[in-house]
Amino acid sequence: MKIFIDSGNLKEIESLVPLGIIDGITTNPSLLAKEPGDYREILKKICQIVKGPTSAEVVATDAEGMIRQGRELAGIDEHIVVKVPFTREGVKACKALSSEGMRVNVTLIFSPTQALLAAKVGATYVSPFVGRLDDIATSGMGLIAEIVEIFGNYKFSTEVLVASTRGPMHIVEAARMGADICTCPATVIESLFKHPLTDIGLEKFLKDWEKAQTAKV
Ligand code: G3P
Repeated sequence: MKIFIDSGNLKEIESLVPLGIIDGITTNPSLLAKEPGDYREILKKICQIVKGPTSAEVVATDAEGMIRQGRELAGIDEHIVVKVPFTREGVKACKALSSEGMRVNVTLIFSPTQALLAAKVGATYVSPFVGRLDDIATSGMGLIAEIVEIFGNYKFSTEVLVASTRGPMHIVEAARMGADICTCPATVIESLFKHPLTDIGLEKFLKDWEKAQTAKV
């Protein structure tokens, strides 16, 4: 399963990419709005750091505007994936942009029918938001299971990109279900490393080693 960082923050991205576990980046207007500077320059830098798919979202709400903005975003760097919201206009824009050879991430997916329609218009990725469904007492991971099952029944090449992840269990469940990608805030990625028994075990190994070295002197 691929792991993307859900962030527009260069420091976070620069600290995680050297680990070798990061396959791409997702941004959205809320994330980029938090960062100082020109969003195009930030996106360019992100692409240069990660050298992998980097989602950048349109803010137009009509298909024509989304297509125009999508072309502009794709012109920033070869790694840019154009992100469009799942609306009727977004579906039209996805069809047009993917027909022109651009990779499109259809975002704000909250139902299996939305995912199915996005796949039919050539989306490279669909982004179901699991955390926001959990927030309203609906199973986010249940949606992932349905989409993975539906895509598995057909020959869609659309990848399931699990978004709005809030903790390590979202990642574990996504991997068990065979989702293609999880995009995670940096804090969630950090949590994937942690296990107290690893810390305790390492501390003991090092102490035992040190003790033995001192005894040998
Ligand atoms: O990738 C989508 C993600 O940024 C939304 O996450 O935590 O705002 O629901 P959240």
